[in-house]
Amino acid sequence: MGKYIIEGGYSLNGEIKVQGSKNAVLPLLAATVLNEGKTYFYNCPKILDVYNMLNILKSIGCVIKWEDDVLIIDSSVITTHVIPEKYVQRMRSSIILLGSVLGRLKNVKISFPGGCSIGTRPIDLHLKALKQMNVDIKDRHGFIECRTNKIIGNKINFDYPSVGATENIMLTAVLSDGITIINNAAKEPEITELQEFLCKMGAKIKGAGTDTITIEGVKKLKTVEYRIMPDRIVAGTYLCAAAATSGEVLLKNVCKNHLISTITKIEEMGCNIKEYDDSILVKTPKRLKSLDLIRTQPYPGFPTDMQAQLMSCLVIARGTSIIAETIFESRFKHVSELVRMGADIIIDGRIAVIKGVPKLNGAEVFAEDLRGGAALILAGLGAEETTIVNNANHILRGYENLDKDLNTLGAKVKYSPD
Ligand code: EPZ
Repeated sequence: MGKYIIEGGYSLNGEIKVQGSKNAVLPLLAATVLNEGKTYFYNCPKILDVYNMLNILKSIGCVIKWEDDVLIIDSSVITTHVIPEKYVQRMRSSIILLGSVLGRLKNVKISFPGGCSIGTRPIDLHLKALKQMNVDIKDRHGFIECRTNKIIGNKINFDYPSVGATENIMLTAVLSDGITIINNAAKEPEITELQEFLCKMGAKIKGAGTDTITIEGVKKLKTVEYRIMPDRIVAGTYLCAAAATSGEVLLKNVCKNHLISTITKIEEMGCNIKEYDDSILVKTPKRLKSLDLIRTQPYPGFPTDMQAQLMSCLVIARGTSIIAETIFESRFKHVSELVRMGADIIIDGRIAVIKGVPKLNGAEVFAEDLRGGAALILAGLGAEETTIVNNANHILRGYENLDKDLNTLGAKVKYSPD
């Protein structure tokens, strides 16, 4: 699984470029299945979740090629409607293929995605919506089989603005008959990116970024070239890395409008943020201020994917902070590890009470999930002596060059594959 070895005590200074967005590119890769031709991607992050998705696309007949940094996917021929189980168990977000394979073949079989360390992650909203679109669903022996002779557009009212369910219904509706209207749709920037990409391919979609998205089915899509947007969570992670080490960092290749709620919290902790066209400069105080209450919310609220990284700043802030994790039921796996490093945190259900201490001390800790793992690295940057973060594979799923980027800023982080 690999590990990161961090020598703490170095403040981060300098500038780095932010990678392409993991949570934007995964649904776009799935969407290529809807086009019987080639698709060209620029700025695609080279991370484990992308490689896993490419393996799935290859396994159903797509031809994948990298030409330097350009990723070319030829989905002219799709050879099977069955998504291999081993890949789904490895990455639950492969459920996003449900909509695109069904949209292309009118048939898809995929294993029920397991929960993961942050929660049970049900897909009831996905399946309920598909049934409303004339899709017959069999759920047997741990597999879901969806079949239809015609996908018919319908009015879908989500009980919760699920990101994955919104994406799956958009993908299902692109080549359907009629019009689909999604109410209470997720508004994350990754949804807007998916609409932009699909419309460039010839789909008829509008409303992404608002509560209501309308998709009018079309017959065919076409080959496009597309540049993946910057990763707002990686950008937020680096802002927290600077804040946790009293550093001064210029982040390049960011969409600052995607980071408003994160920037607000970083400023409330006493940091100074300057925004330019596609970059952000953060200057941080000697010691951060605590935050009374942070609630994770669907976009544009404070993102659940930034909760652990912010906690790694608050554990050394002056005063007591409270975090309420309202999205996932068990997204505090990093807390026990931070406590091993000397943090003072009490958990009560979905509430974490964090009493700031002057400094953490290095320890050997274990990542349990992607963002919690990144948070442990941030904690190690500001801690005394050495921190070892095990289970590095979790972190490699979403961060292309975390150690290299942090070392460019003056950190001392070593990745070891064994
Ligand atoms: C996406 O997951 C992201 N993953 C997650 O990022 C992110 O945390 C999440 O959205 C919320 O922003 C990708 O985009 C690949 P949801 P997704 O469906 O689509 C409940 C990371 O670290 N729910 O919006 O799975 C669910 O249990 C990852 O990059 C249902 O109850 O998120 C959860 O409590 C982690 N029924 C809440 O909704 C459903 O049918 C949010 O889930 C679907 C979801």
